[in-house]
Amino acid sequence: MDNLISLCAEADVPSDAGLRVDLPGRPPIAVFRLEDTFHVVDDTCTHGLASLSDGYVEDGTVECPLHAGRFCIKTGAPVDGPVDTPVRVYPSQIVSGRVCISNEFLRTTE
Ligand code: FES
Repeated sequence: MDNLISLCAEADVPSDAGLRVDLPGRPPIAVFRLEDTFHVVDDTCTHGLASLSDGYVEDGTVECPLHAGRFCIKTGAPVDGPVDTPVRVYPSQIVSGRVCISNEFLRTTE
């Protein structure tokens, strides 16, 4: 588990909303739960300074709370509204009940 960063417990992530996670020295990221899978994306909308973890989750997408742009939570692709740039997604895995991402991947995509 040396190269993994633990973000939160599975139980911390609501099924109908995101969870913002602040990591030192980088922009926040957001964790979403879609049924029994977890997805990690950059928390900041690519259209402006809004937190996607505060957005409305529906049908596998999250709606930005500022201008209602929608992103696919699994792929980060823009799907509706004024957004045209994908939000970055991070591969995640569950380790001992915690949502984790690779420290190496995080470093190489900053
Ligand atoms: S800031 Fe997210 S859609 Fe404009």
